[in-house]
Amino acid sequence: RIAGPSCLVIFGVTGDLSRKKLMPAVYDLANRGLLPPGFSLVGFARREWEDQDFAEVVYESVKRYARTEFREEVWRQLAEGFRFVSGSFDDDEAFEHLVQTVDELDRERGTGGNYAFYLSIPPGFFATVIDQVKKHGLAEPRAGSWRRVVIEKPFGHDLESAIELDDVVSDVFPPEAVFRIDHYLGKETVQNILAFRFANELFEPVWNAHYVDHVQITMAEDVGIGGRAGYYDGIGAARDVIQNHLLQLMALVAMEPPVSFSARSLRLEKQKVLAQARPPERMDLHTARGQYTAGWAGGLKVRGYLDEEDIPATSGTETYAAIRLDIETRRWAGVPFYLRTGKRLARRVTEIAVVFKRAPHQPFAKYDTSELTQNAIVMRIQPDEGVTVRFGSKVPGTAMELRDVNMDFAYGGTFVESSPEAYERLILDVLLGDPPLFPQQEEVELSWKILDPIIEYWAKQTEKGEDLPDPYPSGGWGPAAADAMLERDGRAWRRP
Ligand code: BG6
Repeated sequence: RIAGPSCLVIFGVTGDLSRKKLMPAVYDLANRGLLPPGFSLVGFARREWEDQDFAEVVYESVKRYARTEFREEVWRQLAEGFRFVSGSFDDDEAFEHLVQTVDELDRERGTGGNYAFYLSIPPGFFATVIDQVKKHGLAEPRAGSWRRVVIEKPFGHDLESAIELDDVVSDVFPPEAVFRIDHYLGKETVQNILAFRFANELFEPVWNAHYVDHVQITMAEDVGIGGRAGYYDGIGAARDVIQNHLLQLMALVAMEPPVSFSARSLRLEKQKVLAQARPPERMDLHTARGQYTAGWAGGLKVRGYLDEEDIPATSGTETYAAIRLDIETRRWAGVPFYLRTGKRLARRVTEIAVVFKRAPHQPFAKYDTSELTQNAIVMRIQPDEGVTVRFGSKVPGTAMELRDVNMDFAYGGTFVESSPEAYERLILDVLLGDPPLFPQQEEVELSWKILDPIIEYWAKQTEKGEDLPDPYPSGGWGPAAADAMLERDGRAWRRP
């Protein structure tokens, strides 16, 4: 799978995402031999840079963040195709310059007139840029070539705005030309969920309400909001990552077997899950939110959310969110899915734990089984990539004492191949026009339908001054409210 002749145009190329993820991913793809020789990269932003300045910035970011080793000859060939266009998004002259630039690249390097427009910009600018792309004739491919648009989340901030955003995009680009990035779907371990479930016969027979007690999906981060106050405050944990990453993980874990690995079958099966996922009837019992206070991270003292730069001292934004969802299908009837995410937690870890019911009869009841819990299959998404199966075992000795043990599969110990960065895979798929790893608008809308009532409930509570985000110290495992939520159901969060 090698990309054909093409040119990637990144709007907002001076931003963090571009520097830390997109540019290094482009280099890594080139280094792995997955880009064609004439591949070109055009940066568009307000800075008054020349092509040379742009190339230097890419160089710095590649040196710092690329996964693969630096090879001078790869770099030189790639950098010959770098151009920079300076201007604001409503600047017609700048867009004319962009048109000339991509035309020239096409003639000089043979990009085939195939352009992917990557909007790495705040959503407030989407409409302007898309209108400009259309106005300057860039959205219309000439015969035999393609034009694609790549958009980054957030896809709106609720159902209504997500629909409005889609109207803007679909007015200019047909559905097959729109690539929505949920970078979790680009992760190796996330793609492996489907392999694990559907390439094996071992797990699927127990993957249902007969055997599964509940599922826990955790995305814990040890970092705070960093310099992203402007983006984060008012958005909060639920919109930032549950609406997209965690609901996508849930859909992959809960979906029925797709008939093929085509975008169409995957989308259909994911949609069924999302359409049947119910927000809690009792929001007060089955949702919890929190906000980090001062504490410790990586051995350093860190400040609380309200003391972060540019965060209003009265902010009610949640930096931790936990919700219970029930999926009303035959497979999952009565099996709660608990989703949680938070910033400034004890460690960075994303995992999916499928926790099984206890064995119906325990012949060892008179022995010590206090260290025996429930069987679990844990898909370790990151950073310690792998899968753990937890089951009970006899402790060596003369009594029938039982204890949990783990059987582990670790990527590091099994594969010599290294996992590509999520963005590498996704950028390659955009250039190839390969859609399975990109969520469709229907999924986006269904996800908002799940989340909107929860966020509305929280907003009302905040307005009433009741039940505000529960403060939790940095470096711990989140607010007491979240622990209480599971305790009420007779369960407990894992401490990965
Ligand atoms: C992004 C969120 O989508 O995912 C960030 O906006 C979060 O708040 C990031 O930090 C986490 O990504 P990863 O790949 O490091 O788990």
